[in-house]
Amino acid sequence: MILIFFIYFFNRFDRDLRWRTGVKIIPIHCESSNNFQVTPQALELAYEEANSKKIKVRGILITNPSNPLGATIQRSNLEEILDFAVRKNIHLVSDEIYSGSAFCSSEFVSIAEVLDSRKYVDSERVHIVYSLSKDLGLPGFRVGTIYSFNDLVVTTARRMSSFTLISSQTQHLLAHMLSDDDFTGNYIKTNRDRLKRRYEMIVDGLKRSGIECLKGNAGLFCWMNLSQLLEKPTMECELKLWNKILCEVKLNISPGSSCHCSEPGWFRVCFANMSEQTLEIALKRLHNFMQKRTKDSYAVE
Ligand SMILES: Cc1ncc(COP(=O)(O)O)c(C=O)c1O
Repeated sequence: MILIFFIYFFNRFDRDLRWRTGVKIIPIHCESSNNFQVTPQALELAYEEANSKKIKVRGILITNPSNPLGATIQRSNLEEILDFAVRKNIHLVSDEIYSGSAFCSSEFVSIAEVLDSRKYVDSERVHIVYSLSKDLGLPGFRVGTIYSFNDLVVTTARRMSSFTLISSQTQHLLAHMLSDDDFTGNYIKTNRDRLKRRYEMIVDGLKRSGIECLKGNAGLFCWMNLSQLLEKPTMECELKLWNKILCEVKLNISPGSSCHCSEPGWFRVCFANMSEQTLEIALKRLHNFMQKRTKDSYAVE
């Protein structure tokens, strides 16, 4: 049985990876006590869980910057994850789809940089995936890349790509756009500045309502802590709260359990796919919801 496991992962991996291949996914559980950084102990626990289920571990998949956390993985953590992959003789896939959306570029370290500093020792077990969907806002173009240090993987991917070719018109347009250095430089900077402004706007707004978020530095969302509103620290109570916010506040905010987060009460808030005015309305509604809760009782029954 093959298994790939992940640090909290965005919910579509369940569908994209499991349905066609039969791959099994075991989450690597991270905790708020260390800002959800992955630790060697957490890696070992997930590995042991797989072993106890008689599942053969083939690799680790990380998203860096992370979806759902909206934060980059620190270099020291990347080193530990790579060391673990080497120790267990397994692969490491780094999904860096949000790499151009790190607000502060110096805070993003690609696994390729870690390999570079190690003179590419063990590089054949590392594979980077990327697409234009997030940083360029082009999900409909269906353009992605695999950057692997393993010839077998690259050859296989090239052969497989014959079945999912993108049109020559799309290729022509993108080649023209991406070879324009002025445009790309300007685009990435503007995108980063806008995301940072939005991030600060939402985090400050939530703070004024008494809601804390994990410190983020990348991506299109933030990781919000509503555990104070749970009647009990359970997934059932988290889903009740999600439903209440959906029905009363009319906001659909992904509950952490949908990303396999094991600590109840965390939610992923997308802030980049709406106008500033819509975001202000959403913040106002959440503010009213929080005030009402403080007046009534705090917990959601
Ligand atoms: C971490 C991550 N990887 C991959 C994808 C899929 O991107 P695409 O639209 O290019 O299939 C997403 C989309 O939400 C994502 O968040």
